[in-house]
Amino acid sequence: MHNFWTKLNKPFFCLAPMSDVTDIAFRYMLAKYGKNRENRNKVVFWTEFVAADGLCDKFGRKKLAYILKFRECERPIVAQVFGANPENMKKACQYIASLGFDGIDINMGCPDKSVISQGAGSALIKNPKLAREIIQAVHAGIKSAGLNIPVSVKTRIGFNKEGIDAWIPELLKEDISALTIHLRTTKELSLVPANWEYIKKIKELIKKSGKDVLLIGNGDVKDFKDAEEKAQKYGCDGIMIGRGVFGNPWFFSGKESSSLKERLEVLIEHTQIFDEELAMPKHKGFDVMKKHFKAYVNGFDGAKELRIKLMETENSKQVEKIIKNFLKNNKLI
Ligand SMILES: Cc1cc2nc3c(=O)[nH]c(=O)nc-3n(C[C@H](O)[C@H](O)[C@H](O)COP(=O)(O)O)c2cc1C
Repeated sequence: MHNFWTKLNKPFFCLAPMSDVTDIAFRYMLAKYGKNRENRNKVVFWTEFVAADGLCDKFGRKKLAYILKFRECERPIVAQVFGANPENMKKACQYIASLGFDGIDINMGCPDKSVISQGAGSALIKNPKLAREIIQAVHAGIKSAGLNIPVSVKTRIGFNKEGIDAWIPELLKEDISALTIHLRTTKELSLVPANWEYIKKIKELIKKSGKDVLLIGNGDVKDFKDAEEKAQKYGCDGIMIGRGVFGNPWFFSGKESSSLKERLEVLIEHTQIFDEELAMPKHKGFDVMKKHFKAYVNGFDGAKELRIKLMETENSKQVEKIIKNFLKNNKLI
């Protein structure tokens, strides 16, 4: 079995799946500025989640192909899938595996109403029987593609309240290589601080199960230093970072700061790739890219005014013009 998880150096660091954020454009930036020969075995990427139901026919596959596109520099990369229908999960994962991903991750943590109402995402916390069937179906799908890549699960500590003792052992009965825990309940969304103290309890359950499952902690990691400290303090095998990477393509390199000029120039590059990969082929509107502007453009004199101008743009060319003017006017180029 090609199981990249077993070859990682610990602690390793994971880019969280974030819908409409960690798309191919942003992941490319994070790989280009953050992955290198030395840390290749320490940084794992995730795609945005993709609906299994949508991947069951040719039309849906064509429509969703942009979510499952990746570049070699992103490896190891895991595709994240969600769904509540084991037959569809099997079909979808047969297809996903055939695309060359290093692994498949099942979303069992999404709190979004539209996902929960289908019985998928974190609704599976309330239905462990179906959750187990889904893990088996994903394996069956991979096998029917003639492949053998590892399966992992990303979930939360409970639905309405913490329910680790009832939920986690159910997952551990199945064949999973890694388990990511977002240390909040579904009900808490991201409104309260993540509770890292629960890692200890989950580690004990993994130990008790006698299985070799890697534990990845997730929630509120601020920067690379914080990720390293949390790995050390709580003893996780890996740390997953979501919002902490916003506006910082250097995140995984451990680089602690960047100049204003560097930051604004990578923003131009990011918008250019976004245009090429997503906006011009009409997979996503340019407004989706604007979610990143605040993270890149803040904390300096004139940031607000620059942001206001950038929010009016419609493509990377306009962004480039505005930023170059700003850099010139401020004698930065
Ligand atoms: C905009 C956004 C989109 C997200 N999309 C997904 C997703 O597609 N799949 C998933 O498992 N989690 C998703 N999440 C949750 C993150 O992966 C992560 O668990 C959460 O943000 C907590 O980590 P953080 O505090 O480091 O951001 C999303 C979060 C955000 C902010």
